[in-house]
Amino acid sequence: MIEFYNVNVQIDGKYILREVSLRILKGEFVYLIGPSGAGKSTILRLIYFDLFPQAGTVIVDKYSSAKIRRKDIPYIRRKIGVVFQDFKLLTDRTVYENVALALRVTGVKSSEIKRRVMRILTEMGLSQKRNHYPQELSGGEQQRVAIARAVINEPFIVLADEPTGNLDPRTSLEILETLERINKKGTAVLMATHNYDLIRKFKHRTIKINRGMIV
Ligand SMILES: Nc1ncnc2c1ncn2[C@@H]1O[C@H](COP(=O)(O)OP(=O)(O)O)[C@@H](O)[C@H]1O
Ligand SMILES: [Mg+2]
Repeated sequence: MIEFYNVNVQIDGKYILREVSLRILKGEFVYLIGPSGAGKSTILRLIYFDLFPQAGTVIVDKYSSAKIRRKDIPYIRRKIGVVFQDFKLLTDRTVYENVALALRVTGVKSSEIKRRVMRILTEMGLSQKRNHYPQELSGGEQQRVAIARAVINEPFIVLADEPTGNLDPRTSLEILETLERINKKGTAVLMATHNYDLIRKFKHRTIKINRGMIV
């Protein structure tokens, strides 16, 4: 479902990724680990076609980095949920709006949007917070809003870039449990992390990267 063949990325002449090959199957849960600067976020950016390799090929679903057309990129991005360390919520929108906006752009009708947003907020334990603004929520709640937004379009994969990086251990555990639950329903998860406690607790295939190379 996701395949990297000998992917090289250079920025300003410096190698960021070198001969990276990997594969993520439908419904898999995979960790991407490695020190800061190893190339984890770069791998995630390649998957949602925010970045293109200088050499090698990235294949996501039926799209290839070599052939994808600019107009196809928004469609493939809708099938990929993305979660970041710093949540990246819109601070001037409520919890409800942050999640609903991801559906609005797809032209789903408003009664359907309401039904789906309320269902996902309930699942995430956030229905009471739907009219609150992000800064009124705890870090864990904000990250759950970000996860709700990431899955509202029913993506085939969620890319989580150090999603517990700003959270305390207990809250980190809750976020992992949430991602596990999403994965159990069939959505693949690729999580960049250096939280070794979590990796030990929830065991999944682990891809290690260092200085732009798989190790
Ligand atoms: N836009 C950029 N311009 C210059 N260097 C970059 C850019 N993005 C990433 N890098 C460099 O590429 C390397 C890998 O970055 P990144 O993928 O963000 O690592 P990680 O997520 O594992 O911390 C780092 O050395 C980083 O400084
Ligand atoms: Mg990173």
